[in-house]
Amino acid sequence: MSAPTDEPGLDLDDIQGNAVPGFLKNNQHFMFFNIVDASAARKTLNRLGSLLASAREILEAHKEWRQIREKLGHEPDSPQYLFRNLALSARGLRKLTSDADVDQFADEAFKEGLSAARSAYIGDTAVKSEPGHASGWIVGGSAHPVDGVLIMASDDLSLLTKEIKKLSADFTAHGMSIVHEDQGDVNAAPQAGHEQFGFKDGISQPAIRGRWPKAPYDFVISRTIPGDKAFDQVRADFASPGCPLVWPGHFLFGYARQQCIDARTRDDSNKPVGPAWAKNGSLMVYRRLRQHTDEFWRFVAKTSQALSKKYPKEAPDKQRLASLLIGRWPSGTPLVRSPSTDTGITGAGLNYFSYAIKQAPPLPTDSASNAADPAGLLCPVGAHIRKVNPRDQATDLGLADRTTAHSILRRGLTYDAKGGDKGLIFVAYQTSIVGQFEFLMKQWIAKRDAPRHHGGHDPILSQGVGRVFYLPIADKVEEIVLSNTFVVPTGGEYFFSPSIDFFKTTIVTS
Ligand code: HEM
Repeated sequence: MSAPTDEPGLDLDDIQGNAVPGFLKNNQHFMFFNIVDASAARKTLNRLGSLLASAREILEAHKEWRQIREKLGHEPDSPQYLFRNLALSARGLRKLTSDADVDQFADEAFKEGLSAARSAYIGDTAVKSEPGHASGWIVGGSAHPVDGVLIMASDDLSLLTKEIKKLSADFTAHGMSIVHEDQGDVNAAPQAGHEQFGFKDGISQPAIRGRWPKAPYDFVISRTIPGDKAFDQVRADFASPGCPLVWPGHFLFGYARQQCIDARTRDDSNKPVGPAWAKNGSLMVYRRLRQHTDEFWRFVAKTSQALSKKYPKEAPDKQRLASLLIGRWPSGTPLVRSPSTDTGITGAGLNYFSYAIKQAPPLPTDSASNAADPAGLLCPVGAHIRKVNPRDQATDLGLADRTTAHSILRRGLTYDAKGGDKGLIFVAYQTSIVGQFEFLMKQWIAKRDAPRHHGGHDPILSQGVGRVFYLPIADKVEEIVLSNTFVVPTGGEYFFSPSIDFFKTTIVTS
């Protein structure tokens, strides 16, 4: 049988599994290190190559997990999976390879690293004395440069703890020093799988196009759109309801990106640019985002109270106002599908919605309403999820087809380091930090008039003074001044997550 040619085979044994398909483990430990002896570090990382979890290993583990869960009828008790992945900053890669190699990456953001200047460029404060400035970060930034990060993940905390101890000793004894550690835990927020403000996270993701490279050539990300003809239009562009298909070149080096105004078509002349060994690798953004949850809910309560004086009948209560800022209810139910109450939609319907045109046809078991909302009357145009993914709606860039080229694979999870230091370990994979993560931060999140004119700033992520959120209410649009900052960066760096082959061959020969 010859391989189908429409979607490329992905080199699943060579791609690190947190990029594709993502670890999805409850506990994840991030061990940041510096290289003090490059020759010793090369040997250690070369040995580690065979321990890194590939995309194939994670896909098979997820499949096995689902089968056990189906058999048991509940989550398995003692899953023994332990996954490791490793990523290097440009600074670290320069030590292990060469300046000439690293300079071949086209992405300027990666080469520069998340410096204080870069952090200010994406909208963080530029004032040194203010919270969130890169000079005060506990990892990354000017004060705490980082060469690499080892990510270890498991649902079994004791297994994970043993591994951290072992690899930490190994790294320290062989050419590296540990400079910072972060422990992510999906149960760190008041509700598992929800972020710290209380909203379900990890729902909407792009789906990478591509097949298993060997027969039977299944799609890497399985397709779950219903089979009948009525769904043909949706099937061409989505892997599952609301989950758009995106060409692998947006997430992995060595593959082609989409044509700029036609997301369905591949452009073989547009591949990410980097050294030859970058193939099957991905650029990884890490941001340590502290969430001031009390501040967030105080602001929401105060604003809801002020609105109720002006609009006694229409003013949203606290929970609804917070949901209007996010674009979903705490359960994850999209506001466009249920504007007045949190109906707790579950299953495929949770991500089956659009803004410009009503999402159709209805899914077989999904009876919740599904309306178009071009003007943002159900879900404000400035709500977080609408700022970072306007879905089918045209933007300041033009046609909606251009939006998928700016998507990211989000792999973050919550953390609680106690003493009021809790938030989100934000991790995202892409092949252009400039065109994807930084584009979202600088061009959409931080701007009042993008992606839609007069849409307002992202209410949870934008920083600084003069920020506004526009709330449609009682046939008017109320301007809400975003006077407080709820999310403050306390660390960050840009990394490259190389192929597994890089560890086994490139770093020893360079
Ligand atoms: C502490 C900071 C953050 C919080 C509390 C937060 C919260 C959320 C929540 C509750 C959702 C809805 C659940 C989902 O669709 O998965 C969401 C979606 C999303 N967020 Fe964030 N987020 C944060 C930071 C970021 C950052 C830094 C970015 C990128 C620059 C980002 C990009 C996205 C994207 C792309 C989506 C999916 C939107 C969609 O496809 O509908 N988020 N976020």
